[in-house]
Amino acid sequence: MTRSTILLLLGSLRTASINREIAQIAIAHAPNDIRINFFDRIGELPHYNEDIDTEPAPDIVSALRAAATSAQAGLVITPEYNGTIPGVLKNAIDWLSRPYGNSPLKGKPVAVIGASLGSYGGVWAHDDTRKALRIAGPRVVDAIALSVPTKTLRAEAAAANVALVEQVTDVVRRLAAEMPPWPPSPASDRPTAEIQSLESPRHR
Ligand SMILES: Cc1cc2nc3c(=O)[nH]c(=O)nc-3n(C[C@H](O)[C@H](O)[C@H](O)COP(=O)(O)O)c2cc1C
Repeated sequence: MTRSTILLLLGSLRTASINREIAQIAIAHAPNDIRINFFDRIGELPHYNEDIDTEPAPDIVSALRAAATSAQAGLVITPEYNGTIPGVLKNAIDWLSRPYGNSPLKGKPVAVIGASLGSYGGVWAHDDTRKALRIAGPRVVDAIALSVPTKTLRAEAAAANVALVEQVTDVVRRLAAEMPPWPPSPASDRPTAEIQSLESPRHR
């Protein structure tokens, strides 16, 4: 079976991260036709610097961009730090925003969710992450939202929380529904009107 790929980025580097547990729920409960590629190396990225955003880019940057290129969608799972997006995640988004106007996530649907200590579950970080992503190139799906206050999870492992598993599963299912068919259908399957619009202007 050919499977569509969702690139997953995690905004916490902490080993015992609650958001990492949520990422693992997303991976475990993804539909059969969806592969979640968890790029778990954003902590290795250098601070964004145009001086080193050269051709070729640093290996780790190339690896991140290749993972984004081969994905058809993105899922960002992050806590809130000081009322906004963790620096390590913003740095990854900055690397993904280049080449300018041609981000490897350009036009691809991306959803942002996560858990945080505060009563609003990190909604400021989620909104700020959406804002940065929207400028960076992807198509942010605002309607897919989940900001979980960690105190609602009690002491149990996140994966044992039936309501949370249902919510995260629903997020992945709804994001999958936003993805284009993969692999793309051949041109001969496309409607005539679309084929005409692809013709070069000199033929019109
Ligand atoms: C530097 C720092 C800043 C934080 N700022 C916030 C905050 O603004 N809002 C909030 O709800 N929680 C805040 N927290 C608490 C985190 O939400 C909490 O530690 C969460 O569990 C971190 O996610 P993780 O478990 O995935 O690592 C902060 C934690 C740290 C370490």
